[in-house]
Amino acid sequence: MDKAAEIFQSEREKLFDRLADRLETAYNLNRKVVSFQANKEEPVYRWFKYKEGFSSTLVKYFLSEYAPKAGKVLDPFAGAGTTLFAGQELGWESYGIELLPVGAFVMQTRQALNEIDVEQLRNISKKVWAEIAKLKDYQKHINHISITKDAFSDETEEYLNKYLTYTSKIKDKHIQTILKFAAFTVLEEISYTRKDGQYLRWDYRSKRDLSGKPFDKGKILTFEEAVKSKLNQIIQDLSPNQTTSLFEQFDNTQVDKQPVKIIEGSCLEQLPKLKSNYFDFIITSPPYCNRYDYTRTYALELVYLGYDTDQVRNLRQTMLSCTVENKEKVEYLEQFYASVNQSKAFESVIEAYNNSEAMTEVNSILDELNKLGKLNNNNIARMVKNYFLELCFVIYEMARVTKSGGYCVMVNDNVRYGGEEIPVDLILSEFAENFGFNINKIFVLPKGKGNSSQQMGNYGRTEVRKCVYLWQKR
Ligand SMILES: C[S@@+](CC[C@H](N)C(=O)[O-])C[C@H]1O[C@@H](n2cnc3c(N)ncnc32)[C@H](O)[C@@H]1O
Repeated sequence: MDKAAEIFQSEREKLFDRLADRLETAYNLNRKVVSFQANKEEPVYRWFKYKEGFSSTLVKYFLSEYAPKAGKVLDPFAGAGTTLFAGQELGWESYGIELLPVGAFVMQTRQALNEIDVEQLRNISKKVWAEIAKLKDYQKHINHISITKDAFSDETEEYLNKYLTYTSKIKDKHIQTILKFAAFTVLEEISYTRKDGQYLRWDYRSKRDLSGKPFDKGKILTFEEAVKSKLNQIIQDLSPNQTTSLFEQFDNTQVDKQPVKIIEGSCLEQLPKLKSNYFDFIITSPPYCNRYDYTRTYALELVYLGYDTDQVRNLRQTMLSCTVENKEKVEYLEQFYASVNQSKAFESVIEAYNNSEAMTEVNSILDELNKLGKLNNNNIARMVKNYFLELCFVIYEMARVTKSGGYCVMVNDNVRYGGEEIPVDLILSEFAENFGFNINKIFVLPKGKGNSSQQMGNYGRTEVRKCVYLWQKR
């Protein structure tokens, strides 16, 4: 390209040209493998779908293809623990950080499954209903937040509280976890709500004052029906005489399985506490920069796990910024890095962020579009800025904790706001390069995501890339 043409290239185009040889369409990584859908046949996913997850096939593929032998694997956005448990099955020592108690609870349940006595579970689950019927007093475990109020009928609500009162007294912690999990998985089914995008949609039978076209979610199961059927499914899937492949999951004879290590909290705080050069592999997928609010989608589950209004609000703010409600965390991060004597690290991250020309371009274009009223929400520019800034910290730490020669695999989607494509894959890869990773590949899924119909109308249909990045520590 001649000099004059180069001057008119945007910073994003320049970055694209520089990294173009790393982009590769990956025909073996279809959408199914990257999304949770390929997990359908696995226990736990059959019982509770964590739709934000990726597949264990993906994890096993990268671990077997790129590592000569099992070592230590980390996922700083562990979700329901796909990386951890797939790694465990292959004999890896697995570590995960997760902030959302929903993911942490699913991981604890998976851990408990490795040690469960199925016969005991079968016996206790037969007794549950008679024992609950005998309960005179029960505690009020469920304290609703505004977005879950009246989600259950009075009868279901009472049953839920009684069930939690009863199960919390069960001595065997593994059995207690599985019983608690069984009701956790049916909360949507027994409620007047349906998870719909990032909000809960309300059925016309709820006590709420609802406007708009009435929504009928169909049959709403009673608490007892739903939990009994879930427990039966769980027990059947776990039973040793199961002849299907489901049981192979729990067959411990093949490799030496090590317990997974689950760290509850924000990876922005937890990663800096981990040892340098410790991990052989990281396989992760952060929240996407798409306004998706986990605390709304999983509001019923959070309330069930005992979270109140303040705790949910706090959680929302602590999550990686990916909604328009998230406020800036940079001051907090500065103080945090100072408190662990790592102010230099803080400065390096800020410098890398500020030095990214493509990032600066994205931020200034979004600010401009915001001023012109061309973004759907005033806080989109802030969200994007902070999304990348926070991930810059995460990537710095991931590079620090990965051994030389080790790999980091990250799954993420590009996004578009106000018609401007934000090349998440390229910008994050450039950060990674700054912190000591080589960008080996950016695998692009064969078919990207379409645009929302609103954006299609305005800017014509183009696709944004969905990618899996492969970085290797120098
Ligand atoms: C795309 S999901 C990961 C799903 C995971 N790969 C799986 O298969 O289950 C992103 C996860 O990051 C978590 N998360 C968001 N902010 C976080 C933070 N600051 N620290 C740790 N986890 C966070 C979310 O709760 C969510 O579970």
